[in-house]
Amino acid sequence: MCGIVGYAGDKDVIPVLLKGLQALEYRGYDSSGVACLNGKDSRIFSIKEEGKLENLRARIDGDSKIKGIGIGHTRWATHGVPNQMNAHPHLDEKEQFAIVHNGIIENYVQLRAELEEKGIHFKSDTDSEIAVQLWQYEFAQSQDAQEAFRKAILQMRGRFAFVGICHDAPGHVYVFRRSNPIVIGLGKEENFVASDVTALLDYTKDVVYLDDNEYAVLSASSVEVYNLETKEKVDFKPTKIEWSSEQAQKGGYPHFMLKEIYEQPAVVDAVFNKRVVDHMVEWDTLDSKQEELLKQVHKIHIVSCGTAYHAGLASKYMIEENARISVEVSVSSEFRYSDPILDKNDLVILISQSGETADTLAALSEAKERGAFTLGIVNVLGSTIAREADAVIYTHAGPEIGVASTKAYIAQLMTMALFSIYLGQLRGVLKEDRSKSLIDEAAEVSNDVKRVLESQAELIKKCSKEFYERKDFVYLGRGYDFPTALEGALKFKEITYTHAHGYAAGEMKHGPIALVDENLPIICIAPQSKIQEKMMSNIEELRARKGIIISVGTEGDTALKEKSAYMFEIPAISALFSPILTVLPLQLLAYHVAVLNGRDVDKPRNLAKSVTVE
Ligand code: F6R
Repeated sequence: MCGIVGYAGDKDVIPVLLKGLQALEYRGYDSSGVACLNGKDSRIFSIKEEGKLENLRARIDGDSKIKGIGIGHTRWATHGVPNQMNAHPHLDEKEQFAIVHNGIIENYVQLRAELEEKGIHFKSDTDSEIAVQLWQYEFAQSQDAQEAFRKAILQMRGRFAFVGICHDAPGHVYVFRRSNPIVIGLGKEENFVASDVTALLDYTKDVVYLDDNEYAVLSASSVEVYNLETKEKVDFKPTKIEWSSEQAQKGGYPHFMLKEIYEQPAVVDAVFNKRVVDHMVEWDTLDSKQEELLKQVHKIHIVSCGTAYHAGLASKYMIEENARISVEVSVSSEFRYSDPILDKNDLVILISQSGETADTLAALSEAKERGAFTLGIVNVLGSTIAREADAVIYTHAGPEIGVASTKAYIAQLMTMALFSIYLGQLRGVLKEDRSKSLIDEAAEVSNDVKRVLESQAELIKKCSKEFYERKDFVYLGRGYDFPTALEGALKFKEITYTHAHGYAAGEMKHGPIALVDENLPIICIAPQSKIQEKMMSNIEELRARKGIIISVGTEGDTALKEKSAYMFEIPAISALFSPILTVLPLQLLAYHVAVLNGRDVDKPRNLAKSVTVE
């Protein structure tokens, strides 16, 4: 949440900041702003605007050419309504210090009162302004910008990242990180900083991830990293990024979400090719000691949020079926406060696209403290969960920009399906011929995904046109199809702003069936499986009450087709891989209904891609 950027070099700084912010806008779009220093003026030039980045762009005069250093911000509001006054960067009264912030300063009320007592006036309602006021206050005592920055941070409690500039050091950008992502980009006679690498891809592939409680000082020609407590310089090793800037662009599609939906065959292929060698599943990031631990675990807990939680629910079915280990799945925000019962025989799997979700990170700390073995299933290379978990498996979905997760979910499902086969092989519970036939099937999933996306697109569009004005939708599934029902409903509500609810189909009779009448579209995920018969009975009950059945079923299933107003077809496939196919029509349905309703598909209201506050 909130995107922050910084630059030190000799480029015209505002376009660099705006380009970075554009790449980060999915992290928040309540307001945006930039602040720059040219090395001659002692006052900082700053401009900020409420709403999306385009509003800021419209205000920036083409003549505002500044060479030097600068910082920028795109906001997802926590403290203070989204308006111009609360937009970042925040400046001190004399406009000599500026700061952008991501995260929450927990003791801001007390700090604000103390500073106000000292005669300092605040302009905004944010916690963020504390940081800039404290920095300038500390500078007034020491006349040392770097030490004042450090002292200010030492007084603030919470998880946050800052980037700041000040008049006294017109060539330097100051950076701090604690549990909020920050990555430094290394250029030639220029250096960059951003909340995530997508903002840097146009400029460099060489990056440095700050660790918690480290601060950095950037100039055009140098990057220095220090430990907050000891002030000692920290050695760092740059990482090479594999993503390209083209991957983070729309590539001719009207929205990132649609592009990412159509990238899913390639994503499935990439996961398979990376993981499967001679019918065996292998992980480049697990060593033999970690494999031994996995062999021994007694119980697995999967912890995640939102779409990643749905991938966790599907993973439970996969692991229990193939590896016969009991799996409990929790949303991170519940798990961390549940006083979880864990010990060294437990494996805690954290699934996260961004690797930065605050609640999942907190759950990871909780699990580590209790001695469990922790494994991150993460998309973003070098993200906090990837670095802090005992072991990590990357999902290799590439950069996901659309706020609604699609290809990252598919990559999580494919990775976890293979992980379940691996665990079954490792623990000797999955028979060789079964494992071989599953791997053979896995090799075909990418083609199946392509086929569904190509063959069903027109029908889904037609269905969307018929129902896009309805106010309520219900999604139902059983077993492997239950997480798909939840995910279909989540995708639908987050981008269409229309109420949609996912239920386990067997639960309908216990209350929700009262909702059913001739106006209610009910999306039934009912591919052929060992529980399809039960699902068919549920469908009959809904039809008897005049509910409108829209189904996802297996090609050639005429019985289901006859009962459905629309049936979206998937090829026949084992239950293990079916969640990868059944969710595809639901992603497209949500997409088309959102477009027909004029929604901002890639930046739905009130949301942000990476939820870095609790
Ligand atoms: C929904 C969506 C969110 C995320 C959730 C977890 O489309 O994207 O529900 O899945 O915020 O995010 P990560 O996976 O980054 O931990």
